[in-house]
Amino acid sequence: MKIGILTRNEESWCSAQLRTAMERRNIEPINMRFQRIVARVGAEPTASFGDIDVLRDLSAIIVRPIGRGSLEEIIFRMDMLHRLERLGLFILNPPSAIERSVDKFYTSALLEEAGLPVPRTVVTESADEALKAFHELGGDIVLKPIFGSRGRGSTRISDVNVAERIFRAVDFHHQVLYLQEFIPHGSSDLRALVLGGRVLASMRRVSDSWKTNVSQGAKPLPVNLDEEVEEIAVKAAEAVGCELAGVDILESAGGPVIVEVNSQPGWRGLQSTTTINIADEIVKYVLHRIKR
Ligand SMILES: Nc1ncnc2c1ncn2[C@@H]1O[C@H](COP(=O)(O)OP(=O)(O)O)[C@@H](O)[C@H]1O
Ligand SMILES: [Mg+2]
Repeated sequence: MKIGILTRNEESWCSAQLRTAMERRNIEPINMRFQRIVARVGAEPTASFGDIDVLRDLSAIIVRPIGRGSLEEIIFRMDMLHRLERLGLFILNPPSAIERSVDKFYTSALLEEAGLPVPRTVVTESADEALKAFHELGGDIVLKPIFGSRGRGSTRISDVNVAERIFRAVDFHHQVLYLQEFIPHGSSDLRALVLGGRVLASMRRVSDSWKTNVSQGAKPLPVNLDEEVEEIAVKAAEAVGCELAGVDILESAGGPVIVEVNSQPGWRGLQSTTTINIADEIVKYVLHRIKR
């Protein structure tokens, strides 16, 4: 059996963990890059990667971070994943879930519609409207790239002059302004890794700053989540359609709030807090799903 690992970086720790987990089960891992996949219409094979006929040779694909690209590249990649899924290939995560989760506006909206707690958020293309929203959100906000990850590019703004200057610059570059009320969280948050409708592992991330991404230097610590928090993490993954998800939860004074559902989560930090072999659980889950 062969399972594809679609990744921009074959050398990444998580991809290596997945390969090892597969090899232990006599599965051949196939590292795939979007740049080398060929899709065909009205000709065979429908999708190939070097000598691999994707639909004939692979039993599943696990999608790791798909990387940056132009609008055309990203849309083509997603269209290709949708086509493979339509033609019966199991893809983790489902392409529709990847599309929803990479877009912070789409995700927050779905979470709210599912009755889940989210920070107050305003999204607009207009710097003037963003400035009004800055006050509406209490004059202390986090401005995030709508497609960002790893804490990159997010800025906390509590000065109206800085806000105006940044909003105008973002507007000038035709980027969307995604503003969220700042939630005081004491420099730590919770990350729950949800797999197949349950929390597989979780950690507290403790930082020196308000950004608690492990890639920004936060320390991962073991944590036992309350039942309530586990439940909202599972529901958040479900609302976005993720079978595997890294759910980021802030502990606000009013209770837990979800800031992000990550459909291509890394687990290097999380693995250091648990004895469960996360890569092995993911591979086991894929095997279970393709048998069904
Ligand atoms: N509204 C907020 N208030 C306070 N801190 C926040 C807020 N949103 C995000 N953060 C902090 O910034 C980090 C990154 O934000 P997140 O929405 O998860 O985006 P990313 O995709 O960059 O991880 C979070 O883990 C959290 O520590
Ligand atoms: Mg995050």
